[in-house]
Amino acid sequence: MNIAVIGCGYVGLVTGACLAATGNSVTCIDSDAQKVAQLRLGLLPFFEPGLEPLVQRHVQQRQLHFSAEPGPAIAAADLVFIAVGTPPLAHGDADVRQVLEVADAVGRHMAAGCIVACKSTVPVGTAERIKAALDRAAKQRGLAPDHAVVANPEFLREGGAVQDFMSPDRVVIGLEDARAERVMRSVHAPFLERPAQLLVMGLRDAELTKYAANAMLATRISFMNEMARLCDALGVDVEQLRRGIGADARIGQSYLHPGCGYGGSCFPKDVRALLAMGRAARTDLDLVAAVAHVNDLQKQWAAGVIASRFGHRLQGRRFAVWGLAFKPGTDDLREAPALALISDLLAAGGRVCAHDPAAMPRARREWPQHWFDSGALQLAVSPLDAVDGADALVLMTEWALFSEPDFGEIRRRLRGSLIVDGRNRYDPARLRALGFDYAGVGRGAAAASVKACAESTLAA
Ligand SMILES: NC(=O)c1ccc[n+]([C@@H]2O[C@H](COP(=O)([O-])OP(=O)(O)OC[C@H]3O[C@@H](n4cnc5c(N)ncnc54)[C@H](O)[C@@H]3O)[C@@H](O)[C@H]2O)c1
Repeated sequence: MNIAVIGCGYVGLVTGACLAATGNSVTCIDSDAQKVAQLRLGLLPFFEPGLEPLVQRHVQQRQLHFSAEPGPAIAAADLVFIAVGTPPLAHGDADVRQVLEVADAVGRHMAAGCIVACKSTVPVGTAERIKAALDRAAKQRGLAPDHAVVANPEFLREGGAVQDFMSPDRVVIGLEDARAERVMRSVHAPFLERPAQLLVMGLRDAELTKYAANAMLATRISFMNEMARLCDALGVDVEQLRRGIGADARIGQSYLHPGCGYGGSCFPKDVRALLAMGRAARTDLDLVAAVAHVNDLQKQWAAGVIASRFGHRLQGRRFAVWGLAFKPGTDDLREAPALALISDLLAAGGRVCAHDPAAMPRARREWPQHWFDSGALQLAVSPLDAVDGADALVLMTEWALFSEPDFGEIRRRLRGSLIVDGRNRYDPARLRALGFDYAGVGRGAAAASVKACAESTLAA
């Protein structure tokens, strides 16, 4: 099949490379000509495990092409995927302008019978707007009106995107057209173990399913972060709680890890966009609003621990931060909890030395230049170098590289003794035995201070 994919970001590039790998002829189109030039050389604009060799292999085999010029590839395509960004507007609504611009471009160039599948995460009703744009264009151009629109939200996770695309739990397709269903079934068949994994529904159903899925996962995370706060107050270890509830098959293990808040390009923006959709539909989404609120609070957790030890003025203090990306396996820094922490520390007069195995080049490009120029934020070549002379070490992203560090060496290099474990990766008892002041998320760390407080009240 001839396929055009518009947008060479995480979703578009993974989609294009995986569809080329199953024998389709794919052209990925991006308006960023520099990105396209790099991709033609097999150089990826971001880090995603396994994607670069896949892209290189299929470029060499001439099954995967890149272009900054949408016309010819759209004209030749049986199937066009839209995978451009839908960033948040000021009040949280998803900005669908890129999607609608692309819909207009598709309308200008498509051949009759073209099927257009929207992978971008878009508010309910957007597929209908895409369809209206195509209908208008077909009429103006005198094309037979046999094009079709599919809402095909994407559920891949950065850091495991190729695997997620190649072996999805399910593929959701919203459509109104039997031919479009046949085409979508055939293009996805190589990735599915069972045909029943392809869930066919209405356009609007599919669009809202994507937001509901992300909001559900974000809810689990915020729920655990809220439980973690209660655990701290009551001297309970949230990790035991997690084991205890995750073993219940009705609950399951995934997305139950408390931490320093969810970030990334999807959960924060999609939860806010869902809230905006609720407002527009005059439907209060109190639970979803609470999920976002709890997450905003949680992003301040690590800075709060530091303030509890060093106060709010951090002049003369230095902090080692392990992990910048919003999660392991990616260099994506969008809404990363580490960004929130580092901004807080620098605003309070502290200095930061950070290490991340993938995201440092991007941090240098995307974060405020004056942080680097002033030396307030330094990037270390190794995790241990980041720790040298620091007052505290903060784990923000649970890269495997940080999972079994040499704590003896850390103890020697650290000026202070505080370890803030923002991902609950370390054993509190072991670290305390080594002389560290260990603070994990909901690990009963506050139990000591609660007890001390109770004792001092008693003494009075
Ligand atoms: N990143 C994820 O993990 C993920 C997962 C599921 C769904 N999504 C959704 O998929 C969509 C894309 O996300 P992403 O992370 O891949 O975005 P991205 O920002 O990484 O990439 C978008 C690309 O589209 C290009 N683009 C913008 N306008 C264009 C135009 N008119 N013509 C051609 N190219 C254009 C940009 O240059 C950019 O390269 C979003 O709606 C997002 O919410 C993302």
